[in-house]
Amino acid sequence: MTQTWDPDRYAKNARFVAELGQPVVELLAPQPGERILDLGCGDGVLTRRLAELGCDVVGADASPALIEAARGLGLDARVIDGHALAFDGEFDAVFSNAALHWMKDPARVIAGVYRALRPGGRFVAELGGAGCVETIHRALIAGLDRRGIDGAAASPWYFPTPEAYGALLAAGGFAVASIALIPRPTPLPGDIAGWLETFSESFTRALPVADRAAYLDEIRAAVKPRLCDADGRWTADYVRLRFAATRPVL
Ligand code: BEZ
Repeated sequence: MTQTWDPDRYAKNARFVAELGQPVVELLAPQPGERILDLGCGDGVLTRRLAELGCDVVGADASPALIEAARGLGLDARVIDGHALAFDGEFDAVFSNAALHWMKDPARVIAGVYRALRPGGRFVAELGGAGCVETIHRALIAGLDRRGIDGAAASPWYFPTPEAYGALLAAGGFAVASIALIPRPTPLPGDIAGWLETFSESFTRALPVADRAAYLDEIRAAVKPRLCDADGRWTADYVRLRFAATRPVL
């Protein structure tokens, strides 16, 4: 993964990611006393919401900087790659918001989640689904392709269809209770330059430092007609994939 995370930049440009996480928290329906793993917990803002509801929560994220921020909120937060979960049957639920699309080997992630759950435990999550940020994603890829770099190969994202992810969950032993694609155009807190700065590092790193600003200016100009209104307000073309699945009691 060539993306790094700066907690201050994330808080400034991407606070809406946790703020819009309420529907998946409601799908989880956390109960006081439940032991829950928050997979890809980021800076812990949503993890803290689960803790405030009385859950015994462990946050896991691959970014040491974000885990430090989560620990600053008083959470049990650990640096863990979601592809290498080593828990064994200890969680009532695994929860994830806006993280699984950064994990490009979903079968390994699903296998680790299955092992982490007790029989009867729930896997409830929301991630970017098929078509998520398509305007931006296409522009980022095309911008690298134009420079002779394989843009698709530089992409850090995996945006599955419900059919594809549902099949992976079933192959991993889960009973899928619900899975749906939810288009969610998302107003950004400022200029799309902040979003690009926060989330596009895997693309910009493919370029020499001196070329990065021009590349991002070009992406901004390319997506502006579709994503910016006449008053200068930017909206990203998010699509969510939200699901609930259970590790069956065999
Ligand atoms: C998200 O936080 O949900 C997200 C981030 C980057 C690309 C698409 C979605």
